[in-house]
Amino acid sequence: AASDLTDGFGRRINYLRLSVTDRCDFRCVYCMNEDTQFLPRAKVLSIEELYSCAKAFTELGVDKIRLTGGEPLVRSGIVDLCRSISNLPNLRELVLTTNGSQLSHYAEPLRQAGVKRLNISLDSLSEQRFARLTRRHKLSQVIDGIDAAIAAGYEGIKLNAVIMKGRNEDEILDLVAFSRARAIDITFIEEMPLGDINAHSRAQSFCSSDEVHGVINREFPLLASTEKSGGPARYFRMADSVSRIGFISPYSHNFCASCNRLRMTVEGQLLLCLGNEKSLDLRSLLRRFPGEPEHLKTAIKAALINKPESHLFSHNDETQVVRFMNMTGG
Ligand code: GTP
Ligand code: 5AD
Ligand code: SF4
Repeated sequence: AASDLTDGFGRRINYLRLSVTDRCDFRCVYCMNEDTQFLPRAKVLSIEELYSCAKAFTELGVDKIRLTGGEPLVRSGIVDLCRSISNLPNLRELVLTTNGSQLSHYAEPLRQAGVKRLNISLDSLSEQRFARLTRRHKLSQVIDGIDAAIAAGYEGIKLNAVIMKGRNEDEILDLVAFSRARAIDITFIEEMPLGDINAHSRAQSFCSSDEVHGVINREFPLLASTEKSGGPARYFRMADSVSRIGFISPYSHNFCASCNRLRMTVEGQLLLCLGNEKSLDLRSLLRRFPGEPEHLKTAIKAALINKPESHLFSHNDETQVVRFMNMTGG
């Protein structure tokens, strides 16, 4: 089954990002509004339906699944879902992206349930800034969560920081120091134009990965790493630390040629690319033919021909993807 998922550009798909909820206990400025309306329960895939999806994709050759949101840890039943997905025979690794606010409770049970690695969002180490970015006062909870994750013995922990001018661009070195002190990786992300462009002005806040790289390189010389990341991040190392520094740069270093992933929204829409509206409704298939995965698998294979060559984000022509990030799963 390993070669069932190849798209029209010859890219092999082995990675699924599966969103388990659109809800979140934060309201990050680049992701959603304060008054975001969440989906009614009937529109959201059940835990059983999420599992059926995961199973179908692994039978088609997906060997890595990342659970996303919203915030995956606000979904009830998440630990059981992780346990059943991580036991799928063709799966190499189950990983999860979280805002960290509940990791003090969940780090240990998730590890027990077979989650191998965690990506944790952290944009600021200042209480006040953190609250302005996430619209919640939960910095100390997140830091406790990160430390609980480190104690739980994951195979890898990576922080994610979206760097924005006028918001946190003066914290780059502090975030690097924080990661070095804990011997974990950190990735700096260029802000992407999803959701409500008016929520805050991206044009003014945009900070390129090259600028971030420059700031770090002056303090901690960065050595380009040749290892394949299996994703959009480019990694660098420092001579005196095990921490890796990654950059996800959809604008300045396009990575689409090696794209290996598909996304499922929690409404059961298969998204072929983050920066593109093309989608396929798998929920109706799941509900019309429960227990008959062949229908699902045939539809997924047929949809791959629509996977675009590249996202359409660009500086001068800001193609606005109306979908909010919490609906997309990052
Ligand atoms: P792995 O590749 O699984 O190691 O993780 P990741 O860094 O891709 O996942 P994570 O959930 O931590 O996402 C970090 C950032 O990368 C988020 O802002 C995502 O939206 C972004 N990202 C992930 N995949 C893609 C992609 O295919 N295209 C674009 N444009 N951005 C992506
Ligand atoms: N641009 C870039 N990254 C984003 N994230 C959420 N919204 C955006 C955006 N508009 C990041 C979060 C989290 C990851 C899953 O996606 O910071 O780390
Ligand atoms: Fe929640 Fe993540 Fe969106 Fe922030 S970026 S509001 S933590 S889903």
